[in-house]
Amino acid sequence: MIAIRADLLDFTAAPPWCSADAGGALRLRADHWLLVDDAGRIVGAQTDDPGPDYERHDHRGRLLLPGFIDTHVHAPQLEVIASHGAGLLDWLERYTFPAEQRYADPEVAAVGAARFLDALLAHGTTAAVVFPTVHRVAAEALFAAAAERGMRIIAGKVLMDRHAPPALLDDVIEAERDCEALIARWHGRGRNRYAVTVRFAITSTPAQLAMAGALGRRHPGLYMQTHVAENRDEVREVAALYPEARSYLDVYHRHGLLHERAVLAHGIWLDERDRALLRDTGAQIAFCPSSNLFLGSGLFDWQAAVDTGHRVTLASDVGGGTSLSMLRTLAEAYKVQALRGTRVDAWTLLHAATRGAAESLGLADEIGHLGAGTLADVVVWDWAVGAVAAHRDAVARAAADPMEPRQLHARVFAWLTLGDERNRVATYVAGRRHAP
Ligand code: GUN
Ligand code: ZN
Repeated sequence: MIAIRADLLDFTAAPPWCSADAGGALRLRADHWLLVDDAGRIVGAQTDDPGPDYERHDHRGRLLLPGFIDTHVHAPQLEVIASHGAGLLDWLERYTFPAEQRYADPEVAAVGAARFLDALLAHGTTAAVVFPTVHRVAAEALFAAAAERGMRIIAGKVLMDRHAPPALLDDVIEAERDCEALIARWHGRGRNRYAVTVRFAITSTPAQLAMAGALGRRHPGLYMQTHVAENRDEVREVAALYPEARSYLDVYHRHGLLHERAVLAHGIWLDERDRALLRDTGAQIAFCPSSNLFLGSGLFDWQAAVDTGHRVTLASDVGGGTSLSMLRTLAEAYKVQALRGTRVDAWTLLHAATRGAAESLGLADEIGHLGAGTLADVVVWDWAVGAVAAHRDAVARAAADPMEPRQLHARVFAWLTLGDERNRVATYVAGRRHAP
């Protein structure tokens, strides 16, 4: 059993939109011990000394949060992160597809999966919805590496049977066989769950989309992940390929791919009817701000999502995105929304990357907050790294009552705006500290 001492911060509900006052949704337990049992579950929190039965991890003066949940990221794309000079479709052709081809080799896939998951943990992310590549061995390697680390990973072999280099194409029959084998082996094994993984409408034939929809119906509990309405050229190409569909999103709807466990990255170029469809099906948009800025894709309209009432989570989308750090992702999300005239609060941002994501994925009984009975996927953070952040934090702390909700908001907002993976001190997965 372990006890971790820190300022414990999590959410018991969704905070109000764009308010520095989180109302009753924020739970801050300053200088508490978080108690974790031998099964890696959170037992509770207390100010009293936990006694000799617990191994103590004393991080007093630091912040402890639930591990971040990245709802859209590509494992093989660490190799092409920060590639210059291309919009989405060019970027896929010039950088991404060549890099993904190397994952046909089991050795490359195994080394890449380990590197990727260790990097996630080093950035304070303990759970993720992940694209490997089209290759079954790449999905196998990712699931195996996640199981070794005890991590909560949602993933699946990427489906793509057209409009990509031949070495990255599957076909409907072979893809279905691979998916069935992977589902039988990995879905529900340890903390792995399977996601039917359609790359996007351009790289799947209608027959493959139909197969993907049927897979989801055949195996209750499967997730679905894909991309939608990221880039205007992409949207035009989808309209040409699927003239019968009302919209890009409708292509997926027609094939039965929208439901409560569907995660669609981007959703920048949607209309009101699309947003209503997301709300009515329970599907979520993974907002990927650093990717949207880097690839010049556009500015996601979070306010419209709130007005319509569909789910939004936050994601790095590495390698289109430029950092695995969810702190950086939150800071970029704030800036993208600022360009749209909306000032998102720190609580909404942090909630979306923790409890909000867990709820949207149907996993709030396991992760996303520090409630008793959940698994201790938690991360300890320094408030400040470097002279500028330290000074800014000292100014925030000097406020008359730094625990008063608005002053606390000022401090936490400065932390998430200035912080990154260098602020991370320790990552725990189901109560086990992950080195380094
Ligand atoms: N659309 C289809 N594939 C991809 C990908 O790998 N990254 C991003 N950002 N968009 C995509
Ligand atoms: Zn993506």
